[in-house]
Amino acid sequence: MRKPIVLGNWKLNGTAAASDALVASILSGMPALDVVDVGVCPPHVFIPQTVHQAAHTTLAVGGQNCSEFTTGAYTGEVSAEMLREVGCRYVLVGHSERRALFGETNETVARKTHLALKSGLTPVLCVGETLEEREAGQMNAVVEGQIQAVLNEIGIAQFERLVIAYEPIWAIGTGLTASPAQAQAMHAMIRGVLSTQNPAVARAVRIQYGGSVKADNAAELFAEPDIDGGLIGGASLKAEDFLIICRAAADSLR
Ligand code: 13P
Repeated sequence: MRKPIVLGNWKLNGTAAASDALVASILSGMPALDVVDVGVCPPHVFIPQTVHQAAHTTLAVGGQNCSEFTTGAYTGEVSAEMLREVGCRYVLVGHSERRALFGETNETVARKTHLALKSGLTPVLCVGETLEEREAGQMNAVVEGQIQAVLNEIGIAQFERLVIAYEPIWAIGTGLTASPAQAQAMHAMIRGVLSTQNPAVARAVRIQYGGSVKADNAAELFAEPDIDGGLIGGASLKAEDFLIICRAAADSLR
């Protein structure tokens, strides 16, 4: 049985005070959900205060990105090791916004995944297709290529140590959610790709769905057999909605 994982990706939102209030609300409403892993990924500068607030709770903290380099003259970069040092457990790698807006290639994402693992973080490898790619029937090939690049870099055995987030780009921030059947088909496809190399790892790896997951659609998505929780954007900025989504993940185990 895979433990569902729900992560909030705050993206470029908030202030120090707003982050503080959001985490406080999440913590006050968070049931002792040991059946689900729950975490938030604030902007880097708010990570230390969030780690401090979440100390001695089950709320984990993650980064939204890390550098493909370890150290040196890379102005503005933050390494996976630095994130781990300030208390992160997770780091998102290859979010579609990073791929599309900041030029990250499959190979860049693979290097970041490798460094995150080396640093002791759990990388959350984000994959997903554009609407054009889906309409052209290329979604399987695109997502398989994104996975394959990471397989080439780290090998199948390491996949047990990461989380995959399937996020169709056309569903991100658009209010257009993939139907549970569409999401399930892609999750099963991803598991199938991994299964050709190692069926046990394929069964063990957690695959989150992301893209307009809301309080009112989370339960039907999480009910699908290959969907192991969610990566939540907009709805993670409201504690009440985020908590409903976390509870939906817990209920999906029943
Ligand atoms: P939304 O939930 O706002 O669509 O964002 C999804 C996402 O990109 C999470 O990483």
